Amino acid sequence: MGRLDGQVVIVTGASAGIGEATARRLAREGARVVMAARRLDRVASIKNEIEAEGHSAIAFSCDITSPEDRKRLVRETLAAEGRIDALVNNAGYGQRGPIEMIPVEAIRRNFETNLFSLIALSQLVIPIMRKQRSGRIINVSSVAGRIARPLSSVYDATKHALEAISDGLRGELAPFGIQVVVIEPGFIATEFLQVADEVSRPVIEQAGPYAQFYEGFKKGYSRMRRLAGRPDDIAELIARALTVERPRPRYAAPRHARLFLALKRFLPERLFDYFLNRQAGITPDKVETNRKSLDAG
Ligand SMILES: NC(=O)c1ccc[n+]([C@@H]2O[C@H](COP(=O)([O-])OP(=O)(O)OC[C@H]3O[C@@H](n4cnc5c(N)ncnc54)[C@H](OP(=O)(O)O)[C@@H]3O)[C@@H](O)[C@H]2O)c1
Repeated sequence: MGRLDGQVVIVTGASAGIGEATARRLAREGARVVMAARRLDRVASIKNEIEAEGHSAIAFSCDITSPEDRKRLVRETLAAEGRIDALVNNAGYGQRGPIEMIPVEAIRRNFETNLFSLIALSQLVIPIMRKQRSGRIINVSSVAGRIARPLSSVYDATKHALEAISDGLRGELAPFGIQVVVIEPGFIATEFLQVADEVSRPVIEQAGPYAQFYEGFKKGYSRMRRLAGRPDDIAELIARALTVERPRPRYAAPRHARLFLALKRFLPERLFDYFLNRQAGITPDKVETNRKSLDAG
């Protein structure tokens, strides 16, 4: 018997990375997993593999930013399964680049996917969970939900906002037997970086005076990727958040994620900034050289 036997769980962004690993993991725990993503071919083949292992899954083509798709996802899940026990809000991507150069439209798009759509989907699921007097909502944030970095702060802002919404929801929904949990992954080896690079390319190509710093940021990021955890690490955390009786408000993994959060909490802000900027390639000597070349130019 799995720990989630017969429970109906929607996982958004289930066609790759953390969402895919989570869908597979929860299915092995006995959940009836409803997998949603835009790439139907991918969720359909994951569904087939899950079923071949003797577990249960449904594949849905769903662009999370489309109100019609969100409604259809909830309506058809309810029609097929009769209930929704958990929602794993996982779909998301990262917009990169210097704030000065990112078109506001691109910033809005990142908020639309990572925040507004997630809120809107939760608004459709909450009344169902309220009627059931039970349910869990798992919001996949990031360490970036508590630490904002230069050249990545649009994405970081979407996750900071998600943390705030989750904190509010946790209190609001407790009286109705619904629990809300935030998951804070650190670096995880998925398609995330590749997608972020693709989405951000037009901005980076126009980054002008910021270009050298963005190069440094990417190098620093590549070094940090050596610490990257596996999607299964996060799937395990989500499985725990769905199965323990009293889940904690937040879970972070892998170990480097917990370390960064502890440093953020305990280091003086300037010292923390120093390390963060350094990781992004913005070192004091580079700042000085840049200032001098601007003065000379
Ligand atoms: N990887 C990391 O280092 C890391 C760290 C911290 C937090 N996170 C968070 O973890 C979550 C999953 O990311 P990942 O690392 O697994 O990235 P990934 O491999 O790029 O997967 C992202 C998933 O989101 C889906 N998605 C994106 N836009 C969507 C939309 N409009 N509608 C429906 N689905 C959409 C994608 O599916 P389709 O393209 O098929 O629609 C895909 O399944 C994200 O919220 C991310 O911010 C990741």
